[in-house]
Order: sequence, then structure tokens, then C-alpha cells
Amino acid sequence: MTSSNAVEPVPAALRVRELMTTGLLSHAIAVLCDLGVPDLLETPRAHVEIAKEVDGHPEGLLSFLRAACAAGVLAEPTPRTFELTELGQVLRADHPNSMKAMCSLTCREEFNRTWSNSIHTARTGEPSFSLPYGTSFFEYMGSNPEFATLFDRAMSSSAAVDNLLAGPDLSGVGHIVDIGGGRGTMLAALLRRHPDLRGTLVDLPHVAGNALRTLTEAGVADRVTIAPGSFFDPVPEGADVYLLSRVIGNWNDEDSLRILRSTRAAMRADSELVVVGQMPSENDRTHYPRQLDLYMFALLGARLRSYEEYQELFAQVNLTITDWWNFPDSESVLRARLS
Ligand SMILES: C[S@@+](CC[C@H](N)C(=O)[O-])C[C@H]1O[C@@H](n2cnc3c(N)ncnc32)[C@H](O)[C@@H]1O
Repeated sequence: MTSSNAVEPVPAALRVRELMTTGLLSHAIAVLCDLGVPDLLETPRAHVEIAKEVDGHPEGLLSFLRAACAAGVLAEPTPRTFELTELGQVLRADHPNSMKAMCSLTCREEFNRTWSNSIHTARTGEPSFSLPYGTSFFEYMGSNPEFATLFDRAMSSSAAVDNLLAGPDLSGVGHIVDIGGGRGTMLAALLRRHPDLRGTLVDLPHVAGNALRTLTEAGVADRVTIAPGSFFDPVPEGADVYLLSRVIGNWNDEDSLRILRSTRAAMRADSELVVVGQMPSENDRTHYPRQLDLYMFALLGARLRSYEEYQELFAQVNLTITDWWNFPDSESVLRARLS
């Protein structure tokens, strides 16, 4: 006879059902972020109170709050009262590493439609985003300002600033060009660290236009030139350092080589290239790099590259890696020179 306290193994069919509905937890978190719920939870609050504040339906909201508990970002210390866990703090808009915009972004319709069509990527190797939208991810953003703003916010809040600052020593560098610099988060951090450094930010016009605000808030705007444009066209010449942060990883080899060629054409013989990106390694503590690889391929047709693949790519445009900083969870910084 088995004891009633014995823990029965979970049947495989139930485990698979749980696995197949895990994505719903992401959606519950995104909905709560969109409603601003994490920002309300400085102290535990009853679900009816939360519903009133966010103009929600108490019973409807309850399922989302409990799903967020299952995901570990909320807790229900007493029935129908909810609080943020330590993990959930990053969902707040005012957290220094806020993931609020990232949560909203990854559950947007544009991503969902990509996943619904993702068998296309498995069959053809092409991005699935283009199937429902008839255009590439970055082109789509050019004509969808609301989506583009959310993307830029998510990129700013997830920028690998600490890795860049912990990587190459840029003291003594006079001028850096940040290519695909987004809203200027990385450039702002570098200019704050190095008071004599000047910067130029290159990004598409609809993005570069928003960088001034970040740079002004950081108090460095007077040392920056904003150069709206495409990195497939010539980029400003003759700087000491060129930065490509989370740019090359968004493109397949052919397009990455085009970006590297236009960067290389702008470099002096003694200029350096710094690349910030992601490289899956055996030391990764989470599945995130594998998930990101899937994301990048389905959305953009780009694959996360290993160190050796970067070496091969760079060699094709006569660039040689001189230094490599490999941080936990696939975050990397490379430094390269002309061969
Ligand atoms: C993943 S974001 C990285 C932003 C920033 N460098 C960072 O690390 O947070 C990629 C950037 O590439 C920019 N981008 C895409 N296509 C571009 C193009 N053709 N020319 C210049 N920038 C482009 C996007 O607008 C976006 O800001």
C-alpha cells in the first residue's frame, strides 16, 4: 500500500501539457506589465484593490496574478493578496535594469505572428517575421513608430553597459563612432566614464532622433554628433574606435559582412573595432542564449555565433580579433584591428 504522503512522479502527459502552456506565463507577465501592476506593488495589495487601480476586472485579473505567481515573479502571501518577489522587482518601470519594456515587446502581436508562422523558418531557413508582414523586422519598424519606440526602450534597458565598461580600456581614446547605437545608452555610459571622449552615433533616422534625449539626460550631448543614416552606407571616417553593439548578431553572414565592410572602410590603419554581442557557451547558466538564438533566427534570419565563427567572419574582411571578454550567459565583447 502506498502512503498518501508519497510523492507520485508527474505523468509525462501532464509535464508536456505544462511545457506547452509555459508561454502563457510570459503573456500573463506582459499583461500585468502593460497594466502597470508591478509598479503598484510596493507593498502587498488585494486583487480587488489592484483591479480598481488599473481599471481591470477583479476576477479576470486574478488568473493573471496567479499565473505570475506560478512564474515566480509574484507571491500570494494571503489569499487574493499579491506582492512582488525579489525576481519580480525587475518588472517595475523604475528598476535600474527594468525588463518592463522587454516583457511587453516579446509578447507583442508582431512576435506572436512570427511564432505562428515559424514553421516557415524551419522549412526554408528564412525569417518568419517577413511572411505575415511582407517586410523585414527593421524596415517594419521604420513605418510603425509605436512598435519602434517600444523596441528602442527594450534595447536601452537591456543594453550590456556593464560588460562594455568592464571590457576594453578606452582611456586615452579621442573619438568613438557607435554604429547602430540605438538611443545612445552605450555611448552615454562611455562618455560619462571618459570625460575627454567624443562620440558619433549612427542609426536609422527614426531611432537616432531619439538618442539626443538620452545623451542630454546623461549630460554628454555636447560631446556627441548624431549622424542619422544606414550602416549599409558609408559611415563617418577616421575615428579611433568603432563600436558595433548588438548589431552584427542581428544579421546573416552576407549582411554582417556588408556592415563590417562599411565599418572597415571608415577605419584608419590604427583604428579599433569593438563588438558587443552574444556567444552561447558551455558555461551558460540559463537556457536564454538558446532561446535568443531561436528568436534571432525566426525574426531576423540571424544566428548567434561562436568565437570561432566571429573569427572566420572577421577574417573575410581582414579584421583580426585581438581581445575577447566572455561574461556569464553568453555576453561577450570582442576587440579587433585591421589585419
Ligand atoms: C539590437 S539594437 C542595438 C542597439 C544598441 N547598439 C545596443 O546595444 O543597445 C540594433 C540597432 O541597429 C539599428 N539598425 C538596424 N538597421 C540599421 C541600419 N540599416 N543602419 C543603422 N542602424 C540600423 C536599429 O535601429 C537598432 O538601434
